[in-house]
Amino acid sequence: MKIGIGNDHTAVELKNIISEHLKERGIEVVNFGTDSTERFNYPVSGYRVGKAVSSGEVDLGILICGTGVGISLAANKIQGVRAVVCSEPYTAKLSREHNNTNILAFGARVVGSELAKMIVDEWLDAEFEGGRHQTRIDMIAEIGETQHLEAVDKA
Ligand code: RB5
Repeated sequence: MKIGIGNDHTAVELKNIISEHLKERGIEVVNFGTDSTERFNYPVSGYRVGKAVSSGEVDLGILICGTGVGISLAANKIQGVRAVVCSEPYTAKLSREHNNTNILAFGARVVGSELAKMIVDEWLDAEFEGGRHQTRIDMIAEIGETQHLEAVDKA
């Protein structure tokens, strides 16, 4: 398993803690973020990790900025990316089981390092359930690709 990790200037320390945690789980980590606390625009990391996930260069992505919001919004602009912002483990787990998220984001100003590790573990240990959930994911993809949703016309 290979995970791409990205961050902005607010999240260098938490990025390093989470990278170590992933390595302890036997996961290969590719760093797409900044290692400096100088101001760094989060869309750059969101874009880089989004592209790496979408192209298959990495299996999954983790993004950390102040809140997790901006960096996940940027990643979600890349086709094939389903990024979720989580500040607790339940949403992280369900986002994999139901929404097949391929990028997890959280905020270094929101969660502490132990909670962040718990969120990461729940997300990684969960499995996509497919079935009716795949139908809904296909509908989300249709909206992104065509700016249209056929099912709405039929409803
Ligand atoms: C940076 O100040 C902050 O805006 C950024 O880390 C993030 O929280 C944006 O969503």
